[in-house]
Amino acid sequence: MIVNLRDICAIAEQNNMAIASFNVPSLEAVRAALDAAEQAGQPVILAHAEGHDPFVPLDVIGPTMVALAERSSALVCVHLDHCEHLGYMRRALEMGFTGAMYDGSMEPYEVNVENSQRAAAMCQGFDCGLECELGSMGTRENGVGHENDHVSEAIYTNPDQAADFIRDTGLDILACSFGTVHGIYKGEPHLSFDVLEQIRKRAHVPLVMHGGSGVSDGDYRRAIDAGIRKINYYTYGAKYAGEAAQDVIASFKSTNSDANVYWHDMTMAAYDRLVEDFASVIRVFSNDGENAA
Ligand code: 13P
Repeated sequence: MIVNLRDICAIAEQNNMAIASFNVPSLEAVRAALDAAEQAGQPVILAHAEGHDPFVPLDVIGPTMVALAERSSALVCVHLDHCEHLGYMRRALEMGFTGAMYDGSMEPYEVNVENSQRAAAMCQGFDCGLECELGSMGTRENGVGHENDHVSEAIYTNPDQAADFIRDTGLDILACSFGTVHGIYKGEPHLSFDVLEQIRKRAHVPLVMHGGSGVSDGDYRRAIDAGIRKINYYTYGAKYAGEAAQDVIASFKSTNSDANVYWHDMTMAAYDRLVEDFASVIRVFSNDGENAA
């Protein structure tokens, strides 16, 4: 069943948990995210990033996400991630997306505010909640600029500016930068919980962690206790699925070097691995101690 971004984050707030927001640029990933949410008995966000359009275009994956979310027994928000072009956002809203992120973090502050206001006005015409970003993760969600062994404090979200930004834009939830990065971590992530707590004190809206894969369970919990209500998760799940596909090739070839490896053998293995990973992530984010990985 489809719900909007505001409502799904309100559930997270009530339960001191975070909703997993999985980027799903393939049919296997969409199915795996929904099946994992149903298995775990928790809500989920299906996200398509504008930067993933080369993997699968919005026109193809968007209606698929909406159709499969509608018939899922889980509560599902269908969300547009890191959108930099308002025309692209309108297309997603017209397809039935119930969440959207305008990402003006690479723009000067004033331009970010102005475009976020436009996005907010657009979302009001639809049943859609809006996420905006202040500060920057330093790298993009599609892997561009992977110098991510650390994130400079200079691009952390400024807690005082966050309060103004929320008031001036009319956003529903805020993506903030406090030490996570997109992509594979080259070292241990160093999160600034102090920055996060300061943002939380000034920002009375749900907060979002980007660069959320590759973080330890302990840090997820601390971040959730400090107000993170949505965690974006992509890279590590995609890596595990890639490894599962590689294992299929290796095991076929180890028994018979001439064996054919069919595409469906690889997609099935990737799907199974994604379900396993996503279900364990959802359990950690929902603080399901008994089942948490
Ligand atoms: P990861 O690259 O850490 O999975 O983060 C994904 C993300 O934040 C997408 O918006």
